[in-house]
Amino acid sequence: MSSFNQIYNRKNTNSLKWDQFKDRLKAKYNVEDASDILPMWVADMDFAVPEVIINAVKQRLDHPVFGYSYISDECKTAIQNWFIRHHNWHIDKNTILFHHGVVPALASILETFTQPGDKVCISTPVYPAFTNIPTAQKRTLVAVDLVQSENSFKYDFSVLEEQFKAGVKAYILCSPHNPGGVVWSKEDLEQIVKLCIKYDVLLVSDEIHADIVFEGAKHIPTLTIEGAEQAKIVTCIAPTKTFNMAGLHAAMMVVPNDELRAKLIENRNAHGQEDLNILAASALKAAYEDGDEWLAEMIQYVSNNMDYVVEELNKLEGVIVTKPQSTYLIWIDYRGTGLTESEMMHRILEVGRLALEPGTKYGEAGNGFLRMNVACPFDTVKDGVERFKKSLY
Ligand SMILES: Cc1ncc(COP(=O)(O)O)c(C=O)c1O
Repeated sequence: MSSFNQIYNRKNTNSLKWDQFKDRLKAKYNVEDASDILPMWVADMDFAVPEVIINAVKQRLDHPVFGYSYISDECKTAIQNWFIRHHNWHIDKNTILFHHGVVPALASILETFTQPGDKVCISTPVYPAFTNIPTAQKRTLVAVDLVQSENSFKYDFSVLEEQFKAGVKAYILCSPHNPGGVVWSKEDLEQIVKLCIKYDVLLVSDEIHADIVFEGAKHIPTLTIEGAEQAKIVTCIAPTKTFNMAGLHAAMMVVPNDELRAKLIENRNAHGQEDLNILAASALKAAYEDGDEWLAEMIQYVSNNMDYVVEELNKLEGVIVTKPQSTYLIWIDYRGTGLTESEMMHRILEVGRLALEPGTKYGEAGNGFLRMNVACPFDTVKDGVERFKKSLY
């Protein structure tokens, strides 16, 4: 457990979170010198990856030839066994298509199955790429707000259905939900699948956060929902959030529908896209074969961090925080302070010297919220909480 307490200096490692954010803060908030600002924003962890991953990558590096490669059958078996063990989900190896990230996979899926002008629906607030990719591809974005309920979210299926009825081509589901950390119930997922079948909507299920779920909640893969085989579903999964290896770039699409899979393969061929690079494949295989123990410890550690943050921030007037069911991200409701987003960002950056994500990054529905990443050593979390308090009072 103690390894999670270790503070690694990530400065000067070309880290988005620790280095590149300085340019962003200067451009967006006019912060002259961000060198003493604590970054708790983008979703990667400040923890070392499990030893098993490091050893597997080192072992691959021991062979000095890095020529063309393919994904081994053992690697696919490791993926298959992981999803059986953790999610009771049997994935046919032949239905897996590799990609270098979930975001580029989303882009390939939308490019394959929709045309410019087509409506792509999302439920906001949600991970920004769900807005950025369809917009960049000149699709018409249909953003339906989730319903706020006790600092968590619910679907209003009648509103979603109205939009589907009006001609939506694809719906991108975030399951579990980022930024709210909601683990959708079986009933929610059944309803989504049903609506997608009824209105012939492609269902893109982004399940990148599936493995990080706290006690009491259980992630249900969309493809295991009753009736899923009648729907057009592409599920995106990855070991990158789970094991903090986003910089290695590895993701998969699971596509049991033969017709959809054939079209995605055509798209992939059109772009000359390859499978994973050798280091990513070695890391992925090791993680899924031997990463269970590390994951269980990490979840426990992050859960303790969350309990602390929830308790401390709820003491602050005008701030409400609820422990999420999934992810290492806390969605902070500061609407009660009466501060606008720009006032709040100014305070946390200039007074607290703390970088959190502003809620509107996830859509207008995120106004009045901040997202805090607590996947870091407890001392860092405590520091972050003190900085947040200082910003407010
Ligand atoms: C819902 C969701 N999808 C995708 C990603 C990023 O995926 P990738 O790094 O594989 O492109 C994130 C990262 O935070 C995310 O929260």
